[in-house]
Amino acid sequence: MKKVILTGDRPTGRLHVGHYAGSLKERVKLQNSGEYDDIYLMIADAQALTDNAEHPEKVRQNILQVALDYLACGIDPNKSTIFVQSMIPELTELTFYYMNLVTVSRVQRNPTVKAEIQMRNFEASIPVGFFCYPISQAADITAFRATAVPVGEDQLPMLEQCKEIVHKFNSVYGETLTEPQIILPSNKLVCDSPGVLSGKAKMSKSLGNCIYLAEEPEDIKKKVMSMFTDPNHLRVEDPGKVEGNPVFIYLDAFCRDEHFAEFWNDYSCLDELKAHYQRGGLGDVKVKKFLNNVMQEELRPIRERRKEWENHLPDVLDILKEGSKVAKETAAKTLEDVRHSMRIDYFTDNNLLK
Ligand code: TRP
Repeated sequence: MKKVILTGDRPTGRLHVGHYAGSLKERVKLQNSGEYDDIYLMIADAQALTDNAEHPEKVRQNILQVALDYLACGIDPNKSTIFVQSMIPELTELTFYYMNLVTVSRVQRNPTVKAEIQMRNFEASIPVGFFCYPISQAADITAFRATAVPVGEDQLPMLEQCKEIVHKFNSVYGETLTEPQIILPSNKLVCDSPGVLSGKAKMSKSLGNCIYLAEEPEDIKKKVMSMFTDPNHLRVEDPGKVEGNPVFIYLDAFCRDEHFAEFWNDYSCLDELKAHYQRGGLGDVKVKKFLNNVMQEELRPIRERRKEWENHLPDVLDILKEGSKVAKETAAKTLEDVRHSMRIDYFTDNNLLK
């Protein structure tokens, strides 16, 4: 069986360092591992519209932004297919057939949907399209016969629901769809990363409390230096907590031993630094200055590559156009198999007469 990756992002804003540490970096690694036959990265504009129906402009404006973020992080259009969801109408048709295999109460029980309904104040009136997005996500995944879906932990319920649809479809219509496996990020930053400024809410594009991939050096510094830390670490002598401390969560995600040799040779690795912080006698400002150096070093090449691509926007558009063409062919092939299994391919070989 082919090894295929499919994953995607809603284009509702620029991507931030949480996306990078928890997901994009991993995707680039998977891309360059050479272990996968095909890699599809989907800009999920249709899904973004399920809760932004009245703001199509916001979605439209972020399509190129997300593509730029992908390219800036090292996604290589020669190795990965980047495409735009709504350019593949086959996905909508698959969704429509899958809808018959899922009950309303099953979607209502999906924890991610539940949480989002609350977050968006949809309780009183849930848009039908929004309600169906887990089903459409199953269409995204199965259309490409994805075997691996690298996503954040918050997407686990979506993958569970997708697997159920695959089983149901295969048991009703015969073995047709491929079951996907989730690949969870090795780093926790993406899922429960605390907001830079509060330390409470998770880092989120919509809450505006995060460091963006394209952030300018002065802004990175400002955000790092005003980060929330351990609230009980008041004086330098006090012992500090590293668990749940945003500064250390970021260091866990980005810091390598080489950074100590380069910026802070009092320590040789993060464990030594942590031990000192926990013992007491190490002030937040020093740690933040070090984190700033680390973040500057990590984000510089990404920002520079992004600027390069920003000067070639027509090329970025071509990458999306070409990727969408390739993606459409793959999805059309799966749709053909689906229609065949459901015996609704009436006109192929005069099937309706058989
Ligand atoms: N739900 C994902 C998000 O909110 C985006 C997405 C849409 C996706 N379709 C997908 C992710 C298919 C993985 C596979 O970011």
